[in-house]
Amino acid sequence: MSPDARARLIVALDVPSIAAAEAMVGRLAGAVSFYKIGYQLVFAGGLEFAETLLRAGKQVFLDLKLHDIGNTVAKSVESVARLGATFLTVHAYPQTMQAAVAARAGSPLKILAVTVLTSYDDADLATAGYASGVSELVRKRGLQARDIGVDGIVCSGEEAASLRPVVGLDMLLVTPGVRPAGFARGDQKRIMTPTAAIAAGADYLVVGRPILDAADPKGAAEAIVAEIEKSRKM
Ligand code: C5P
Repeated sequence: MSPDARARLIVALDVPSIAAAEAMVGRLAGAVSFYKIGYQLVFAGGLEFAETLLRAGKQVFLDLKLHDIGNTVAKSVESVARLGATFLTVHAYPQTMQAAVAARAGSPLKILAVTVLTSYDDADLATAGYASGVSELVRKRGLQARDIGVDGIVCSGEEAASLRPVVGLDMLLVTPGVRPAGFARGDQKRIMTPTAAIAAGADYLVVGRPILDAADPKGAAEAIVAEIEKSRKM
């Protein structure tokens, strides 16, 4: 298996405790080297655990979905850059993206913009007061992210296919909502198989429950890495 395919799988450590995270990382040893830490774990000691992972040579994606006034965003991004994380998410609002991009300058940290959460569909956006539907808003925010100099975008597989020609080859497309064939969709409304997401132009796949809830998490991760490898040769 090429390290290239393996490096494209990011496992979402959506677990309630550091003990559970340690156990999962232990079970995935050798199969996974990139982990996403989000709210659930961050508020249970996840930042210290991120440092442990980094010291062990793993890569860390901090999914903090920042959105605040520019000064606060900039100071937060500076702290995350010092930690040594690889990816950090911010919501795709122009002020927030501008502050984050300026504050990560000179560090290896890459800023990813979240355009529209993958649990939202057009009806959810309308309820939240937006005039545009998902595809229009994703496109608009993708263009703004590119123009501001954001490093990548978090988007569904479907959006990856439509965004790639819009934002060009230089932006990273990071895709959650990945479901191997036959797996329950859960609350995700815009899902794709790993093969389809890579074929659609995704650079990285973010996978949580299909691996965390599997009877054999390492086997599930290896199967996804194999799918990534195969689809990149297609
Ligand atoms: O369990 P599942 O594979 O659905 O996990 C997907 C992960 O990606 C979760 O941690 C979720 O918060 C995250 N995510 C997402 N949609 C986004 C951004 C992040 O599902 N737009």
